[in-house]
Amino acid sequence: MTDILSLYKGQTVKDLPTPSFVIVEDKVDANCRHMLENVSELARETRSPIKFRAHIKTHKTIQGTLKQLGVGLLEKPKDAIVVSTLMEARSILDYQEKVGKSIVKDICFGIPASVPSILPQLSSISQRVESFRIFVDNIQHLDNLVNFGRTAGDKKWSIFIKIDMGTSRAGLPNDSTDFHELLKKLMSPAVSEVAELYGFYAHAGHSYHVHSIVDAHKLLLDEIIAVNEAAKTYGRLHPEIDVKSLTLSVGATPTSNSLKIRDELQLNEYIRTKLVGSLEIHCGNYCMYDLQQYSTGCIEKHEIAGYVLGSVWSAYNERKEFLTNTGVMTLTRESSDIKGHGLCIPTGQIFKSDDLKINWYVDRVSQEHGILRQYQEGDDEVNGEAIAPLKLDQQIAVLPQHACIVMAQFPYYFVLDKNGKVSDVWTPFQKW
Ligand SMILES: Cc1ncc(COP(=O)(O)O)c(C=O)c1O
Repeated sequence: MTDILSLYKGQTVKDLPTPSFVIVEDKVDANCRHMLENVSELARETRSPIKFRAHIKTHKTIQGTLKQLGVGLLEKPKDAIVVSTLMEARSILDYQEKVGKSIVKDICFGIPASVPSILPQLSSISQRVESFRIFVDNIQHLDNLVNFGRTAGDKKWSIFIKIDMGTSRAGLPNDSTDFHELLKKLMSPAVSEVAELYGFYAHAGHSYHVHSIVDAHKLLLDEIIAVNEAAKTYGRLHPEIDVKSLTLSVGATPTSNSLKIRDELQLNEYIRTKLVGSLEIHCGNYCMYDLQQYSTGCIEKHEIAGYVLGSVWSAYNERKEFLTNTGVMTLTRESSDIKGHGLCIPTGQIFKSDDLKINWYVDRVSQEHGILRQYQEGDDEVNGEAIAPLKLDQQIAVLPQHACIVMAQFPYYFVLDKNGKVSDVWTPFQKW
C-alpha cells in the first residue's frame, strides 16, 4: 500500500496511529530461518529429501510468503505453499504474473472443497500454477471430480487425502470404513482418468494445547505415523502402486517446532527405517508466533514478531485499571492458557531479544476498547519488576493470543526495521 508507506516510511513507533499492527522484521526473518534450518537438519540427519510447504494464512502477504520460502536466504528457495482461501492463491498468482516470476510453483488448497460450485474456480487456479493440490475427504468428492472432468489445462487433479488426527477437525480417520472406501474408489478407471493421488496430509490442530516441546514432539510422531499408515493401507489395497512416490505431509506450528528436539523420540530412526513415502513438513503460524504458541512451551515470548499497538485512553485509579483502544475488533476473543486477551509490554521492549517484562494484561474487551489490569503477585508473568505505571495517551504493545485471527482484522501492517523505523507496509489479501 504505497500511499500509507509514503506517509510513514522512516517513522518510528511513536509516530504510528493506534490501533495498528506492527511487525518486527528481524524476528520474522529469524523465525523463518529457524524453521527452514530445522527442516534441512532433519533432511541431513535422515539422509532423506524432506520437503517443506509454507502455510501463508497468518499474514496473507507476498512479503511474508517470500520470507517463509527462504527467498534471499536459501540458495534454492522453497516453492510450495498451502492457502486457506482461494483469494490467497489468486493474489499470489496475480503478483507472480505481474512481475513475471514464478516463485511459488506448488499450491495446495488446505480445505476439502471438491464440490460442483467450487470446482470451476479450482480448475482455473490450477491452470495458472505448475502444481495445484486439492483436499479430498469424502467419496462424493471423487464423483464430483469425475463429473467435472480433468482441469481446464487437461491436467489430472492432484489429490491429498486429509487424515483426521482424532480432533474431528477435517478429514477421515485412517482406520475408518469411509477412508477404506475412498482409497478403493481412487483407483477405479473413471477416477484414475481425471485424478491422481499425490499423498496424505495430517495436521494435529490439538498440538496447540500441549505444554511442552516433548508433548508437541509426540504429536509430530503421531502425525507421521498416521500418514505413513494411510500410505501402507493404500499400498495393500493397490499393490500395483509404488507408494514411494507418495508425499506424506505433516505439521502444525507446535509439531513442526518440535523438530528442534528431533531425535528425542527416535524420530530420525522412524523416518529412516519405516517411512514408505517422502516426508513433507507444513506449517504457518511460526513466522509470527503468538501467546497460543508461547503457551505450548515451544517458544519464548520475545520470539513473537507482531504486536497490536494501542493507546491508553483512560484510567480508573481506585480499581487500578486502564482503558485502551484495543478491543475485540483488534485483539479478538481468542484465548489460551495465558490469561486475558493479550499481554502488554511498553513499546520500548518491542525489539528485545530476551525476556520481556509483562506488567499488564488485557482482562476484558468490548467492541472497540479493552481494560488493562495488573498482573497480581504470584502470576506467572510478573518478572519481579515494580509495576510500570501507565499514563494517559501512552502507547502500549499487546502480544496477541492468536496472530492469524488478529492480523486478519487489520488492513495493513507496519514493518519495523532493526533501527525501529518503518521500512515497509504489507497489505494482506483479505477475505475470500
Ligand atoms: C490444513 C492446514 N495445514 C497447515 C496449517 C498450519 O498450521 P500452523 O499455523 O499451526 O502451522 C493449518 C492451520 O490452520 C491448516 O488448517
